[in-house]
Amino acid sequence: MIHPILRMGDPRLLRVAKPVERFDTPELHALVADLFDTMHDAKGAGLAAPQIGVDLRLVIFGFAADAQRYPDDDVVPQTVLINPLIERLDATEVDDWEGCLSVPGMRGVVPRTERIRYRGFDPSGRPIDRIATGFHARVVQHECDHLDGILYPMRVRDFTRFGFTEELFPGQDIVDD
Ligand code: NI
Repeated sequence: MIHPILRMGDPRLLRVAKPVERFDTPELHALVADLFDTMHDAKGAGLAAPQIGVDLRLVIFGFAADAQRYPDDDVVPQTVLINPLIERLDATEVDDWEGCLSVPGMRGVVPRTERIRYRGFDPSGRPIDRIATGFHARVVQHECDHLDGILYPMRVRDFTRFGFTEELFPGQDIVDD
């Protein structure tokens, strides 16, 4: 089921979400299906449960193998990540553009750690443990920020590189993330 996506300003986006305590339940699988329906409908690269008003530490991101939306970037495997932990493996921060389905029509340059290890669980409770770099690492950091009530504009440092997509990239058909 496709849900409305909350927009920045809604206080539910500012909560620190609660850990998932029971895995492999019908409710959890239904939530994951709804998140994928909602993300695909919005043509997003990732979505966090708080963005549909669900106060749980669960994010989805990535693309099925045939998706070619970001051909120049690292492949981001389609993932459900629950109760995530991120470890920064690199002091280097890299600037790049981000958008967010909760901040429609806008883009901003955000510094993110270049290389991370992330751990968590899939919906059945199986552990996930991966190293990610570049765009993959950026997406994970962006989505997991939602679980702590952080939206990417809060991480923008140079506000000369934040604004409306249509003004920043005229003539280009760029969708929200
Ligand atoms: Ni977002």
